[in-house]
Amino acid sequence: MTSRSTECRQIAAQLTAPGKGILAADESIATMSSRLEQAGVTPSADSRRMYRELLVTTPGLSDGVSGIIFCDETLGQVLSDGRPFAQAVRQLGILPGIKVDTGAKPCPGLPGETITEGLDGLPARLAHYAEIGAAFAKWRAVFTIADDKPSWGSIANNANALARYAAACQEAGLVPIVEPEVMMTGSHTIQRCAEVTASVHAAVRQQLSLQHVDLAGIVLKPNMITEGDGSPERSTPEQVADATVQVLRAWPAELAGVAFLSGGQPPERATANLEALQQHQTPWPLTFSFGRALVSPALAAWGGDETRYADGQTALGVHVAANAAAARLRRDLQSA
Ligand code: 13P
Repeated sequence: MTSRSTECRQIAAQLTAPGKGILAADESIATMSSRLEQAGVTPSADSRRMYRELLVTTPGLSDGVSGIIFCDETLGQVLSDGRPFAQAVRQLGILPGIKVDTGAKPCPGLPGETITEGLDGLPARLAHYAEIGAAFAKWRAVFTIADDKPSWGSIANNANALARYAAACQEAGLVPIVEPEVMMTGSHTIQRCAEVTASVHAAVRQQLSLQHVDLAGIVLKPNMITEGDGSPERSTPEQVADATVQVLRAWPAELAGVAFLSGGQPPERATANLEALQQHQTPWPLTFSFGRALVSPALAAWGGDETRYADGQTALGVHVAANAAAARLRRDLQSA
């Protein structure tokens, strides 16, 4: 094994260490700007920087967070005290990560479906991010459920891109977070979400193997298995956990860990589902890599108001603590 693969395995284990999870704060400039605007904050490079500073300087953050995913803009910015973001979070004992895909774009030939782009020039960008302190990376493939979707073409294209990205990351000494997201949008059943996610994962596993990606040096970031947000059903956390673990069982034991996205679930539901997931014995740790389920309450509590800065941090701290406690449950159950 090369020293880079040993390093990747160590970082992947650190990211999914018991009782810790990942904070996804890597919204693109456009997405972040619109979320700030909705919260009453004028979007600008500086307001985006200030908001990310609020997140990373939350007291006690490293008690429940092993890594933070940033976008390119933030990784090039500095905190008010002049320290670059990557350096500041490393000093807290948190690993900095970087979203390296350039977004899900309409896929020619597959109307209504997307292909995530960003492979062109990727090795040079990864080398740069490693040099400025990144320890891991993220790439998100997106699949939407409809009667005739996702198509096999979309599954094959996106699985191939994810695997090529993952191989490039490991060559650069960065741990790839592999994120095949089957969206909650739609009125599909939980069974349909399970079938689609299982097909997507099978293609991703096959492509990762063809690209010789070391599964012990990646973190899988899947959606939980739920019904669509337009469905009248509301599965219990136990039903979500059962269905999710059943799909994940196809992954070999050597996979370093699983860190779920929240996918637009209300924060409390995402936490309850993560708790229920810990009741299952699995060969890999199960934790969180939430974006909205962690940061939406913080953004709402702050609202760009200087006098409510601490409220924003308290809201983030409360949600991180709740999810870290959920992720710690299994270890506690095992040692009881
Ligand atoms: P959500 O938890 O809001 O789904 O975001 C996670 C993420 O990183 C999406 O790429």
